[in-house]
Amino acid sequence: MLSEKITTALNQQIAMEAYAANYYLAMASWCDQQGLEGSAGFFYAQAEEEREHMMKIFHFVNDADGKAIAPAIAQPPSDFESLAAICKTALGHEQKVTAAIHAIQKQAMSEGDYRTINLMNWFVDEQLEEENQMQGIMDKLKLIGNDGTGLYMLDKELGAKAAAKEAGEED
Ligand code: FEO
Repeated sequence: MLSEKITTALNQQIAMEAYAANYYLAMASWCDQQGLEGSAGFFYAQAEEEREHMMKIFHFVNDADGKAIAPAIAQPPSDFESLAAICKTALGHEQKVTAAIHAIQKQAMSEGDYRTINLMNWFVDEQLEEENQMQGIMDKLKLIGNDGTGLYMLDKELGAKAAAKEAGEED
């Protein structure tokens, strides 16, 4: 049985993952509008992934005899300055998610709640991967600067990444 504190924290995390999914969806839409099809595909895939994160916690809470709450989701921004600005925002949001995961981890450890610790371990690894990925894209964008060809190539690369993910070749 989950403690009340852990249940509340996990439900907050469910809401955070749901918001992340919508945030990525908004980013994907902006990219689509700009003709950045590969980047749009990448962010659509990110949105799917965040929904999977949400569901992973959702099922966990219910399976552990807690009560998972379907969250209200605030509308994320829909206008962005550039792909670089999007990635910066995305990284900042992922860092917030990581901090929240660490807080749950800490609470679970203090309670000796090994099931939640186990779940959060998975998320700690996932967050590291996501932050590194976003940082990597930002590094490339810095190198590219205002070079249209570079942006075109990166967009293609992000599209390929999304396609590989969809084909199950990448996490
Ligand atoms: Fe599931 Fe990227 O936070």
